[in-house]
Amino acid sequence: MGRLAACALCALLVGASGCGEDDPAPAPWLLDPALPMPTWLSAAGIYADRLTLAPADGFVVYEPPHPLYSNRATKQRLLWLPPGTRIAVGPDGWGFPLGAVLVKTFAYRHVEGRFGDVAIETRVIRRAADGWQYGVYHWDEGGDEARLAAPRWPEARFLLEDLNGSDFTYVIPGELDCEACHATHGDPPVIGLGPGNLDPALALDRPELFEAPPAADPLPARSEPERAAMSYIVGNCAHCHHGAPRGDNASFDLRPAALVANTVGVPTESSASGDGIRVVPGDPAGSALYEAVVSARDPGYAGDFKPMPPVGIVDLDREAADILADWIDSLEAE
Ligand code: HEC
Ligand code: HEC
Repeated sequence: MGRLAACALCALLVGASGCGEDDPAPAPWLLDPALPMPTWLSAAGIYADRLTLAPADGFVVYEPPHPLYSNRATKQRLLWLPPGTRIAVGPDGWGFPLGAVLVKTFAYRHVEGRFGDVAIETRVIRRAADGWQYGVYHWDEGGDEARLAAPRWPEARFLLEDLNGSDFTYVIPGELDCEACHATHGDPPVIGLGPGNLDPALALDRPELFEAPPAADPLPARSEPERAAMSYIVGNCAHCHHGAPRGDNASFDLRPAALVANTVGVPTESSASGDGIRVVPGDPAGSALYEAVVSARDPGYAGDFKPMPPVGIVDLDREAADILADWIDSLEAE
């Protein structure tokens, strides 16, 4: 029996009563940033009901306008701020209060009544007393409990069945992988909740979360295909490609204001990578950027580019391939 089928069966057998209501009072680690993340998700007080992924009181659901694609997973994102605290909205970006917690649960569409999906992993980022902490909970097959992976737990791989019954390898990253995207993004390491990636509903409906009304940075796109490409690149590339050299991560800037100037007609520069022009107007297949995102993920690919993004993705994002091709084609008319 495939893992999803097993999950579905367990979920049906366990039923709604298998996931008791958590205590409505905030869990101790949420109120005291010196306490470690609990080993069990049931003790973390994030979900009022783990079967339906109904969040506990105080957790706010949000949706970034420029999301990261992750192997067709459905994602649910939550924010928790300690009582009485707010997000600081400053000219140089946002500041999250001590004790702020962000959660992202990855699920696969399969079981009715469970957020439509089977939860696989729940990732947590927290602003603790000694800096930002990362944790990842691995869900059990019954879908009613998840355990925090040990800090240096390596990535976990297993086969999942997708909606069409095909197997594919799913990878839960280890903690070092979290830092590859989040720590390189800068401070704060929160990527999907900030001026460049602000859920408009959060800004409108939850002003009490912010010290001042938050404003989104609009995308400086000149056309609809360019807007779509910028949105995809903000969500999937700019947390590494942000112009500042950090460790071994690429520094060339793909943030919206720099995207066109740094790609159209510009040669690649990484010694660890292939040679080419990043974007050749009208020629997606001849553009290094398209080659890195699309062609390099083909199992038969024999070129020099590493697939982009280099971590967190195992299958090709077909929608992204179309978005990038449309944008590169649209540049020919300029
Ligand atoms: C491939 C890069 C990448 C890796 C690896 C990665 N993340 Fe993220 N993560 C992102 C991006 C991009 C977002 C924002 C967009 C989104 O949520 O779709 C995000 C969002 C999140 C969020 C919601 C808050 C936020 O920053 O927007 C949490 C929580 C989170 N990640 C935790 C983790 C943890 C814990 C790990 C390691 C187990 C991890 N992530 C690994 C790229 C990554
Ligand atoms: C986790 C960090 C990370 C993410 C996310 C990421 N890249 Fe990269 N990228 C790198 C690194 C490191 C290199 C340089 C070394 C190499 O090529 O392996 C690179 C190299 C490249 C290159 C070739 C070198 C050059 O000078 O042009 C292209 C093109 C590229 N990235 C595009 C993208 C695009 C488009 C995305 C989003 C779909 C993306 N990258 C996401 C880290 C990242």
